[in-house]
Amino acid sequence: MKVLLVNGSPHERGCTFTALSEVAKTLQENGVETEIFHVGNHPVRGCIACGRCAALGRCVFEDDAANQLQSLMKSADGVVIGSPVYYAGPNGALCALLDRVFYSSGGAFANKPAAAVVSARRNGTTAAFDRLNKYFTISSMPIVSSQYWNGVHGNTPQEVLQDKEGLQTMRTLGRNMAWMIKSIQSGWQPLPGKEEQIITNFIR
Ligand SMILES: Cc1cc2nc3c(=O)[nH]c(=O)nc-3n(C[C@H](O)[C@H](O)[C@H](O)COP(=O)(O)O)c2cc1C
Repeated sequence: MKVLLVNGSPHERGCTFTALSEVAKTLQENGVETEIFHVGNHPVRGCIACGRCAALGRCVFEDDAANQLQSLMKSADGVVIGSPVYYAGPNGALCALLDRVFYSSGGAFANKPAAAVVSARRNGTTAAFDRLNKYFTISSMPIVSSQYWNGVHGNTPQEVLQDKEGLQTMRTLGRNMAWMIKSIQSGWQPLPGKEEQIITNFIR
């Protein structure tokens, strides 16, 4: 059992990575293997709507991470896509990649549990979260939820580590995802455990 966690930030070890690492740690504690894939900060093409992917089963462009990401997602049992919030949406380069990854996949991600994670300094998290969830809900991917909308706050990894409620949201997501994947693969599993809820009201 393996979950692919996509870090859609140009920062390899920034806030989004910190949030995804908390999900990954919890997945591992629950017996699920993880891989964090960084989309990097190289130029990414947008979809040119050429339609060649319908015949190829992959994007016609091979000069960025789209096709590598598509095959990693195909072989994973679950997917978490993380992004920093940029102007109340996900990172534009990440969306450009995901447009091509999903459009060229021919429905290959159906029934694979998925979740979005966002990281913001202050605001715009739910709009960015909604945008990422749109990729899953048009692809028959069951969405794994948590105790809150999956976001952390911070401008640096150190600040994210102070967002105790955000980190708990990540751990709950990890437990729920492990439970859903196991239940799908081997029949109904005992419900995941629960931590006592942390509510921080953004006070650190
Ligand atoms: C171009 C740009 C736009 C941003 N827009 C927002 C925003 O709308 N709301 C917000 O709270 N933070 C915004 N931020 C801050 C980042 O979302 C925040 O620092 C995030 O946690 C960085 O994650 P990372 O370290 O993984 O890149 C923006 C940052 C950049 C570079």
